[in-house]
Amino acid sequence: MTDVAAIRKQLDSHGQSHLLGFYDQLDVSQQAALVEQIEGIDFDQLDELISDYILKRPQLQIGERIEPAPVVSARSSGPVEIEGARRRGRELIAAGKVAAFVVAGGQGTRLGYKGPKGCLEATPVAHKSLFQVFAEQIFATGRGVGGSIPWYVMTSPENDTAVRAFFRAHHYFGLPEQDVFFLVQGTMPAISFNGKVLLESKDQLALSPNGHGGCISALHSSGALDDMASRDVELISYFHVDNPLVRCIDPLFLGLHDLQAAQMSAKSLPKRDPFEPLGNLCLVDGKVTVIEYSDMPQEVATGTTEDGHLHFSAGSIGVHVLSRSFVQQLTADDRRRCLPYHRADKCVPFVDERGEVINPAEPNAVKLEMFVFDALPLADKTVLLETERSEEFSPIKNTSGQDSLPTSLHDQIRRAATWLEAAGVSVPRDADGQAAAAIEISPLFASTPEQLAQKIDREMVIATGDSVYLGERGQVGGNR
Ligand code: UTP
Repeated sequence: MTDVAAIRKQLDSHGQSHLLGFYDQLDVSQQAALVEQIEGIDFDQLDELISDYILKRPQLQIGERIEPAPVVSARSSGPVEIEGARRRGRELIAAGKVAAFVVAGGQGTRLGYKGPKGCLEATPVAHKSLFQVFAEQIFATGRGVGGSIPWYVMTSPENDTAVRAFFRAHHYFGLPEQDVFFLVQGTMPAISFNGKVLLESKDQLALSPNGHGGCISALHSSGALDDMASRDVELISYFHVDNPLVRCIDPLFLGLHDLQAAQMSAKSLPKRDPFEPLGNLCLVDGKVTVIEYSDMPQEVATGTTEDGHLHFSAGSIGVHVLSRSFVQQLTADDRRRCLPYHRADKCVPFVDERGEVINPAEPNAVKLEMFVFDALPLADKTVLLETERSEEFSPIKNTSGQDSLPTSLHDQIRRAATWLEAAGVSVPRDADGQAAAAIEISPLFASTPEQLAQKIDREMVIATGDSVYLGERGQVGGNR
C-alpha cells in the first residue's frame, strides 16, 4: 500500500508538494505511476543540485593551467609501436576481453527524427539503420576471431521499449540474442528557475535522460558490469549512436590503451574550426579534461600557434575505451555523485497550478545532464588517439547543414570510394571530383581498407550513376 501521507510529508519538507497537487483527480493506475516517479527521486541529492546549479548559476572553474592535451597518432608514432599496439588489441579481442558499448538514450532533439535515433536509416544504398551498421561491424569482428563480442546498448526510459522491439524485429541483426544486453539510463526532472520540479502532465513529472554520463552509474545499477565480469570482459569500447563511420571496435585504440595501462582513453581529431561543436581535449592542471565548446573562452578557442594552427585543436568525438575496473572503481560507492552535472536552460512544457499545459516560448527550466568525458580527469592514465575525420567521423546530429544525414551519406560514399580506389578499383568522379556513384561497403564484406583490398575484384566496373552495394555475398549493382 502506498503511504501517500508520508510522500506528501516528504515533498513538503523539500518544497515540492505541488507534485501531488492533482493526485485526487487521477485514477488508480495514474496515481501509482506518479508515485513511482516521485519515489525514484533522491530529494536530498536534488536539494543539493537545486542549490548548486539552479538557484545560483554554477561558476565554471576551468582550472589554473590549461594546455593542449598530448595526442598520439598513427603518423606521429613509430610503425613498430603502432603494429605492436594493433597486435595487442587483436589479442584482447580474440581472448574475449572486449565489449562494445553504444549509448543510445539521447533524445535527438536537433535531428527531430520520430523514434530512437539508432533506428534511423542512415546508409546510402542499402538504407540500413544505424543499429544495423554497428551490429554488422560487431558481428564481423567477432567472426574474425571465431567468437562473438558482447554488445551493451544503453537506452532511456523513453526509447527502451522501441529499441528492444527494433532489435527483436530484426532478429538482433544476426548477433546471438544472449550477447546483446540492454541497460536503461537514469533520468533527471526538469526544474524551474525557482527550484520546483515540473509536472509534464497531472500524472507525470517532466523527466529527461540524465546525459551520456549517466552510463557510468547505469552500467553498475543495471548489472551490466557484473555481466561483463562474468564474461571476463576487461575493456569497454564506448561510442555514440549517431556516427555511421565509427570504428566500434578498434584494435589499435584498444591495444594502445592496454599497453599504457590506461583507465579511460579518448579518440580525437583536429577541429575543423574553433567553434565546431566538439569538446576540447585539454590538460587542465595536468589532468586530461574535456572543456565543452560552449565553455571554452573565445580567446583560448581561437588562439593559434606560430605556424597558424589552432593551439587547442583536439576535439573529442565521443569514442572511448574504459577499463571495466575503472568504471567499477567510479561506482563503488553507490551514493557518491561520481560525475558533475552540466546545466542547460530549455523550454520545457509543463502543467501549471491550475492544471493547464503551458508551452513556453522562452527557456523556463533547467535540465541537468552528466557527460561521460568528465570521467577522464578521474583516470590515472589516459591515451588520446588522433584519428582521421574522413575515416571515422561523420555524425548525424542536425536535420540539414553540417553534421546531418546528407553530409553523412556523402562522407560514407567518399570513404567507400577512397577504399576502393586504394584497392585498385576505378571510381567515376564528377566535375568537382566527388564520387559519381552511390557506393556502400558492408562491414560484413570489409571493415577496413586492408580487408577490402584482400577481397575485392579489381576488375569490377562502376559507372556514373550506379548504386553499388558490397555486402556479405559480394557485389550488388554496378557492373561485374
Ligand atoms: P548528443 O549530445 O548528440 O545528444 O548525444 P542527443 O540527445 O542525441 O541529441 P540532441 O542534443 O538532443 O540533439 C551524443 C550521444 O550520447 C547519447 C546519444 O544517444 C548519442 O549517442 N546520449 C545523450 C545518451 O545516451 N543519453 C543522454 O541522456 C544523452
